[in-house]
Amino acid sequence: MSSSRRHFLQLGSTALIAGMLPISLVRLAFAESSQDFTFAYISDSHIQQIKGNDFVRNWDQGLKRAVAEANLLVPRPDFIVFGGDLAQLGNKPELDHGAEMLAALHGKVYMVMGEHDYYLDLGEYWRELFGDHWYSFDHKGVHFVVLNSILTYDDWTFDRWESAERRMVEMAGLDNPNGSPFMVGQKQIEWLKQDLAGLDSKTPVVVFSHSPIQKIYKGWNFWTEDADEVQQLLARFDRANVIYGHVHQIQYNQIGNIAFSSVMSTAWPWPYPDSYSQAGSHVPILTVPMNRADPFDERDATGWQFMNLHSGRADVRFNLYSNQNRTVAWDDQSGHPVDRDYQSTDARIPSQTHY
Ligand SMILES: [Fe+2]
Repeated sequence: MSSSRRHFLQLGSTALIAGMLPISLVRLAFAESSQDFTFAYISDSHIQQIKGNDFVRNWDQGLKRAVAEANLLVPRPDFIVFGGDLAQLGNKPELDHGAEMLAALHGKVYMVMGEHDYYLDLGEYWRELFGDHWYSFDHKGVHFVVLNSILTYDDWTFDRWESAERRMVEMAGLDNPNGSPFMVGQKQIEWLKQDLAGLDSKTPVVVFSHSPIQKIYKGWNFWTEDADEVQQLLARFDRANVIYGHVHQIQYNQIGNIAFSSVMSTAWPWPYPDSYSQAGSHVPILTVPMNRADPFDERDATGWQFMNLHSGRADVRFNLYSNQNRTVAWDDQSGHPVDRDYQSTDARIPSQTHY
């Protein structure tokens, strides 16, 4: 999640001031400086029912902690975004339980659809709870767009599986070859075209999606099939930010005017794929190797991140629960975003050996 409380807390302690970024980077959205504002982002809680009222405790605790910390933020965020995958298998008890925990948040919450929320009933119950699957809104001069990026081909969705439960389980696997590529789809792309049509190119645009609107790694669906079409629609804007969940790890990228930043999960980290090169010629310019996410350390790559969207470039500070803090920011000299404390293999914290 991104916000500013942790940063402020640390500034309050003299011992921790050294090495902190200037406080101006706490600004999370771009507008006239008099109108600077912050919003908080929580994602991928994967609330999972075991049986009846029994839910996986660790995932519950991750979300509860995020909600509690978001409620203590000073200054208050103008709103909160939940980035998708509230539930693990999309059933009513999971969505209800997750919604109940989110209801404790103080402030307006905007919801993004994740595949784990969707593929049981194609988002029907989610709609009852939270509303439209995609929409946009304006806030203090910034245009925000929420996309449902986890749709897929009709024959996979409607014809392939003997039951809705089976379809859900097939889509829930990270590296399941029976899965299907995510996409935004033509209907939504047409809507987006209309939605953006009247905007001046100077208007800052922020897109929230679940899967990345870029092509990173098809084998794990870190990939949106029609990402190029969405990127084209964003190309005419001076500054655009795409913020996404789904990958449960730190990712950042800059393609032309579009800055991409992932939001960490409150549930667990995914490891990094062995190679991003399988995406062949579609690979965006991932300029710096990714950092460790240890899947055997359930709090690795979870924590807080503070994004400065004002710059229109990937510009993030991470406060990690089980790893050293790090900063990713645009570097003028190299012309791409840089992780200033990139952990080379020999400098990494050893992986946890038990689980
Ligand atoms: Fe997820």
